[in-house]
Amino acid sequence: MKELNSASDPIGQNLIKFISNVCFSVFVFSVLIVTVIAITYQPPDPWESSRALTKVFTQVENATFKTDTSVLKTGEDIAESPRLAPAGASLSITDDVIERTEADLKNVSLKSGCEDTGVINCSDPRVLITIERFNLRAFRSLAFLDYQHPVNGSAPNECDVAWRFRNKKEKSWRKYRDFRRFTIGFKDDCSYKVIHAGRWHSGLNARRPRIRTNATRNGPRNKTAPVVRDDEINDTLPVLGSDLAFRNGRYLYYSHGGDYCKGMNHYLWSFLCALGEAQYLNRTFVMDLSICLSSSYTQSHRDEEGKDFRFYFDFEHLKETASVVDEEEFHKDWKRWDKTHKKKIPVRKVADYKVTPMQLKKDKSTIILRQFDAPEPDNYWYRVCEGPAAKYIQRPWHALWKSKRLMNIVTAISGSMDWDYDAVHVIRGEKAQNKELWPHLDADTSPEALVQKLQTPVMPWRHLYVATNEPFYSYFDKLRSHYKVHLLDDYKEMWGNTSEWYNDTRLLNGGRPVEFDGYMRVEVDTEVLYRAKTRVETFYNLTKDCKDGINTC
Ligand SMILES: *[C@@H]1O[C@H](CO)[C@@H](O)[C@H](O)[C@H]1NC(C)=O
Ligand SMILES: *[C@@H]1O[C@H](CO)[C@@H](O)[C@H](O)[C@H]1NC(C)=O
Ligand SMILES: *[C@@H]1O[C@H](CO)[C@@H](O)[C@H](O)[C@H]1NC(C)=O
Ligand SMILES: *[C@@H]1O[C@H](CO)[C@@H](O)[C@H](O)[C@H]1NC(C)=O
Ligand SMILES: *[C@@H]1O[C@H](CO)[C@@H](O)[C@H](O)[C@H]1NC(C)=O
Ligand SMILES: *[C@@H]1O[C@H](CO)[C@@H](O)[C@H](O)[C@H]1NC(C)=O
Ligand SMILES: *[C@@H]1O[C@H](CO)[C@@H](O)[C@H](O)[C@H]1NC(C)=O
Ligand SMILES: *[C@@H]1O[C@H](CO)[C@@H](O)[C@H](O)[C@H]1NC(C)=O
Ligand SMILES: *[C@@H]1O[C@H](CO)[C@@H](O)[C@H](O)[C@H]1NC(C)=O
Ligand SMILES: *[C@@H]1O[C@H](CO)[C@@H](O)[C@H](O)[C@H]1NC(C)=O
Ligand SMILES: *[C@@H]1O[C@H](CO)[C@@H](O)[C@H](O)[C@H]1NC(C)=O
Repeated sequence: MKELNSASDPIGQNLIKFISNVCFSVFVFSVLIVTVIAITYQPPDPWESSRALTKVFTQVENATFKTDTSVLKTGEDIAESPRLAPAGASLSITDDVIERTEADLKNVSLKSGCEDTGVINCSDPRVLITIERFNLRAFRSLAFLDYQHPVNGSAPNECDVAWRFRNKKEKSWRKYRDFRRFTIGFKDDCSYKVIHAGRWHSGLNARRPRIRTNATRNGPRNKTAPVVRDDEINDTLPVLGSDLAFRNGRYLYYSHGGDYCKGMNHYLWSFLCALGEAQYLNRTFVMDLSICLSSSYTQSHRDEEGKDFRFYFDFEHLKETASVVDEEEFHKDWKRWDKTHKKKIPVRKVADYKVTPMQLKKDKSTIILRQFDAPEPDNYWYRVCEGPAAKYIQRPWHALWKSKRLMNIVTAISGSMDWDYDAVHVIRGEKAQNKELWPHLDADTSPEALVQKLQTPVMPWRHLYVATNEPFYSYFDKLRSHYKVHLLDDYKEMWGNTSEWYNDTRLLNGGRPVEFDGYMRVEVDTEVLYRAKTRVETFYNLTKDCKDGINTC
């Protein structure tokens, strides 16, 4: 019939059909675009392009997060973080301490009697001022906040001083602590001068004694060991305290899903979805601080369970910005309640992710328990945030910062280069081997190519930090005849068995040493990279290949 029609009526009807088809296609297409935009619109997300997100949404069955795994952006790396103070803003507005500037020190006379040149009186206020001036000149990217009184060093002409500072480049605006040993001498006019400044954390006598507290839980499995805390880090687990407080709370609890032991990007995408739902429902999220690290980051190349969230992320910041409770504490309280009361705690079990957060909004149960027992990929936490829910739930990226213990290492590395260095990000690994998706990457990141391509952006003999997933340390040796090359492995002592990091994480881990794993390396590499003065990226700067594989840019 159709064939006949079009044969008998040559142009007119066909044209109309064609036009209406085109119109309909345009309509469908625009609806599609609007839908895609609606689905992919999220508040600022540190993970690059919406393309990566769309991919994640559309290829759910594989759920391979093709976002770059050699850098890790978290809330502190996005400019829109609410904690961010605008560039150049006064540091003192919301803060308890005021930045010390050159102006504060200008009109003080530093003259002293230098009769007894061998001995320095560290309590002399002029010694501190001399050191403050020295620091301001030496570390221009830092804001110095408050100093403690200098104390004697190990020799009569040495003083140890501690202070707190902020890095002007760091968006989290977190405070760090340094204590260094200074050798003090005299100028011709008998005023003090700094002869030598010690390295990062060299002023051991100025270090504040550490506070011992009995934490409620120290590692995922150890409840007895006392915890010695970094005096700047308070990431103890929040406790509810009383039965009544427990009963009056409202909780959102997710059972283990298919996300467990998947890559860290997958974990974060899921975790932030859950936290977003809890915030949307105005509930406390019951959180398992013991996470499973995927094999791609471990030395054993096997998935490893029992990694503490606090090894990687800033739990102190999280508990200040979001309402969370530790799963173990929560279980204890729940059990105790059910044992001691006739009336059990009301629990609403939700077996399917298709039950939307909007449907749960009115639920008054104390506990909403989401179960993820379906086969993959229906058991991924992040599926809760798909579809219409995406419009209501915002992932609270600002709640997620990197662990301050790792940031201390970042600060120490940047500090050892006096915050004056350039960096190149060299992505190799699997991508360099995959010639189909990244045909030129391997050649463009070869040692010869690097030497040639870095000449223009980076001046000779600058400190050059190489952030990379290339495992061979000597790979970058060719660069050493042009630059002072630094690699993460040059700083092994910062997580070695005499380091503060080692001591601290061991205590979190119930006395067992913690491996400095691949994921921690990525976190530290990322942040050192971001603090560089000039930054050369693999994609866009070193190679014309596309980040997500051929024909994606
Ligand atoms: C999922 O992964 C398999 C094997 O890795 C691949 O063949 C398939 O095309 C992928 N599916 C999608 C939608 O990417
Ligand atoms: C130094 O100058 C400040 C103002 O800039 C003033 O308040 C202070 O009293 C001065 N100190 C001395 C010792 O003159
Ligand atoms: C060191 O300086 C402080 C403050 O100026 C002073 O009180 C103290 O007596 C001095 N100590 C010595 C041994 O000179
Ligand atoms: C610091 O050293 C000076 C001189 O060596 C000495 O007089 C003073 O007692 C020492 N102070 C402390 C607190 O040890
Ligand atoms: C910590 O626990 C020990 C023994 O369990 C106890 O002797 C000590 O007083 C406690 N310290 C604090 C600060 O509670
Ligand atoms: C650590 O934080 C908790 C709240 O999470 C607070 O109750 C506790 O007093 C803090 N401890 C210190 C030593 O600041
Ligand atoms: C969230 O819960 C708190 C206390 O649980 C309550 O004060 C507040 O009004 C709630 N907010 C919303 C928007 O429901
Ligand atoms: C630290 O490690 C080195 C070599 O790995 C070992 O010789 C040393 O005994 C260790 N020290 C401590 C305190 O564990
Ligand atoms: C870590 O602990 C070891 C021994 O337990 C100690 O020798 C070392 O000085 C500590 N390191 C730091 C930086 O506190
Ligand atoms: C907990 O820590 C203590 C002290 O470090 C240790 O003696 C004990 O064996 C640990 N327990 C477990 C279960 O790891
Ligand atoms: C790297 O590429 C980006 C984007 O093309 C450009 O803005 C930046 O200046 C380049 N950096 C260097 C160091 O060449």
